[in-house]
Amino acid sequence: MNERNRRMLMINAFLLLIFSAIPLWSQTVRNVCSTCHVNATCEDKPDGSGKVCNCKYGFVGNGIHFCQDKDECQIGATKICGQHTTCHNTYGSYYCTCLAGYSPSNNMAVFIPNDGTHCQDIDECRITGLCGEGGLCRNLEGSFDCSCHVGYRVHNGSEPFQPQRDGASCRVVDCGQPSLVEDTVLLSITGTKYGDMASFGCDEGFVWRRGDNSSVCRADGSWSGATLVCEEILCGNPPLIEFTEQVWNQSSSPGSTVLYLCKEGFHSNGGYNVSICSNNGKWTSPTLSCQEMLCGDPPVVPHTAQLWDGSFTFGSTATYYCKIGFYHHDGSNVSVCAENGYWTLPDILCKEIICSEPPFIDHANMQLEGKQRVGSVVYYQCEEGYYTTGLRNYSECGENGLWQDVDLLCEEVNCGPPTCLPNTKLLWDGSSTPGSVAQCACVDGFYQESGNNLSTCLKSGVWGEISVKCKAECGPVPFLAHSEVVWHNRSTVVHRCAVGYHSWRGTNMSLCSGSGLWVRATLKCIEIKPPINQLRLHNGHCLEWKAEKYEEDTEFYKVIYLGSRDYLKSFLDKGRRLLRSKDDWLRVCLKLLPLTNYSISITAVKARFTATITTNTSLTVPPSPVVYYTELETPVPTLRLKRSPNTLDPISFYQIFVLPVEKTLLFDCSSPRSLNSSITQSPAEYMTAQLVVQNLTTDVNFTVGDGFLYGGFYNAPLESGNTYFIVLRVISQWKTVS
Ligand SMILES: *[C@@H]1O[C@H](CO)[C@@H](O)[C@H](O)[C@H]1NC(C)=O
Ligand SMILES: *[C@@H]1O[C@H](CO)[C@@H](O)[C@H](O)[C@H]1NC(C)=O
Ligand SMILES: *[C@@H]1O[C@H](CO)[C@@H](O)[C@H](O)[C@H]1NC(C)=O
Ligand SMILES: *[C@@H]1O[C@H](CO)[C@@H](O)[C@H](O)[C@H]1NC(C)=O
Ligand SMILES: *[C@@H]1O[C@H](CO)[C@@H](O)[C@H](O)[C@H]1NC(C)=O
Ligand SMILES: *[C@@H]1O[C@H](CO)[C@@H](O)[C@H](O)[C@H]1NC(C)=O
Repeated sequence: MNERNRRMLMINAFLLLIFSAIPLWSQTVRNVCSTCHVNATCEDKPDGSGKVCNCKYGFVGNGIHFCQDKDECQIGATKICGQHTTCHNTYGSYYCTCLAGYSPSNNMAVFIPNDGTHCQDIDECRITGLCGEGGLCRNLEGSFDCSCHVGYRVHNGSEPFQPQRDGASCRVVDCGQPSLVEDTVLLSITGTKYGDMASFGCDEGFVWRRGDNSSVCRADGSWSGATLVCEEILCGNPPLIEFTEQVWNQSSSPGSTVLYLCKEGFHSNGGYNVSICSNNGKWTSPTLSCQEMLCGDPPVVPHTAQLWDGSFTFGSTATYYCKIGFYHHDGSNVSVCAENGYWTLPDILCKEIICSEPPFIDHANMQLEGKQRVGSVVYYQCEEGYYTTGLRNYSECGENGLWQDVDLLCEEVNCGPPTCLPNTKLLWDGSSTPGSVAQCACVDGFYQESGNNLSTCLKSGVWGEISVKCKAECGPVPFLAHSEVVWHNRSTVVHRCAVGYHSWRGTNMSLCSGSGLWVRATLKCIEIKPPINQLRLHNGHCLEWKAEKYEEDTEFYKVIYLGSRDYLKSFLDKGRRLLRSKDDWLRVCLKLLPLTNYSISITAVKARFTATITTNTSLTVPPSPVVYYTELETPVPTLRLKRSPNTLDPISFYQIFVLPVEKTLLFDCSSPRSLNSSITQSPAEYMTAQLVVQNLTTDVNFTVGDGFLYGGFYNAPLESGNTYFIVLRVISQWKTVS
């Protein structure tokens, strides 16, 4: 809903409010429709309770007495028709038109805005030429105005203007004829209007120095200034030429001329003698040259020099003399500067001085540089095989035509007898002239170690240097005990110890001394032996060995023994002994148990050497128990056997023998066999029991004659009234040893 429609709604709402009052009043009237106003219509009431008169659209009133035209324009053209409009009221309606400069958007002459028609600005500038030539159109809201383009000015008015309304127009700017700058002429002009151009040049006899040569008709009606500056052409003073005079009328304008003439006392050497002032403001260059009239330098005469003070005016003189190496032979030696500007010719004649043949020197070669003129030098050099004595080996040809004396002698070269170095002998044929050769060889018993042993007699009269070095020969390489030679030459031997020996102090190098004897190496080689040597067992339980070590070193020994028995698997006798000693012979006694296989190892800790030895200990007499026997206290004889446990228990037995006392008994305890034999000797004797010691407690009561079997033997009861010997034998047995 736009602004205008909202307003319409408000108006209708207002009308409704008025109409709502009518039914109250019309209820009282029966035939309502007949009473309706001409400009009203009869309509049913909204609630159907009868009829009612309503003014027609565009009319306001009670529908019966009056229905007056409503003036819609009353609330203002802008409000009802929109911007830039005029509102026209009609009976029962209205219409709108646009203000000047605006046109309705429906392109009709009139409108009612309820279809969205409104007035919009007309762009008058769309019409070309509206503002006339040079005019610039500007569209305004509902209107337009004109101004003038650059180069145009308002005629008959002022900006801004409307051509028809104000009668004004734009006219092009005219600058009129340009004014002339001093000394210039107008060369060309394109016109006198805005933008036209005029160009200027300098007047004749004038030259354009600087500035702009053109002018433009500007928008303000004036010509832009031509800044052209023209200056009169002048050549100034003509150039000067040495020794000349000028013939000139003092005019320095183009075309003027100057004539040059040589001054008095000078004569022309030729050249162009006129200068002209040219159009570029410069004088042309004259080339005339003038010279003073003089004799100049005196003439040159061969082989002469002059004595002359340098003046060449009339009457000046020059005196001639002969150069060095020449002598005055004939003629006059003077020249004079004559009136005609020339020197008179002198007729002096100089002749060259020549020396005779140069002096001769025995055994010397001559070398002459140049001819035998004064100043020539002759050099002398001795022939090969001759040497020079004296100070000066040359002579010069003197001014007196004589050679200088030569202080030179050439003598034959001789090296004399050669000399040899110590330990060498000379081999020489006795000649000592250059090229002769001598040899210095090593004497017997020496050999040549290095250097050169030949010498040649040199041209300088000395023998060439001999650098031979002779060394005494020491003979075969020296021998050192238990060693071998690693490397040797005639003067050095390197030794080392033979395999199985090692070095023990001393140097390992023998050197040949100057006296021809070897200075032997002091190397000592000693046999490499195990640190534990000659190990043996003494008395079955003492170890003895020899310590192989150097000097007084202390060695640290570790003895470990390990004993085992076949008959007693659980048995293990283990022990160790440690000792330190400096001794060469060592002895260690161990507590070894009987009937045991021992393995003993001895380690020399510092030397990291271990030696082992095994030994089997023998079977010793087994320990016998303490026997208690008390006949009185027991009716039967009971032996109480008390013992200490022993490692031999597993192979030990108690054997109990009974011997009836009949005669004297002979009994050998050393062996069972012997017992057996004794049994055979005494038939009454018998063995009553054999007890395995290991199975017994340490305290055992054994009753003789209890009638039991012990170890397969019958313990036969004893007869009372008899006397018996009871023998207890303890026996240890391993294999065949007992
Ligand atoms: C009714 O309206 C018309 C125009 O529509 C007008 O000419 C006439 O005078 C009006 N009648 C009265 C009685 O006002
Ligand atoms: C004016 O000056 C311009 C350059 O500055 C030259 O090209 C032109 O020839 C001049 N015009 C005359 C008429 O000398
Ligand atoms: C032998 O050898 C030694 C060491 O290399 C060296 O100094 C010496 O000159 C040699 N001697 C000879 C005669 O070669
Ligand atoms: C000692 O070793 C030997 C050989 O192995 C063996 O016959 C002997 O019975 C061993 N002796 C002991 C007491 O173990
Ligand atoms: C000692 O016992 C070893 C085994 O440990 C055996 O080889 C050697 O023969 C035995 N020696 C003697 C004398 O019984
Ligand atoms: C052996 O006999 C003595 C007394 O005669 C007694 O004290 C002891 O306990 C007995 N020993 C055993 C093992 O019976």
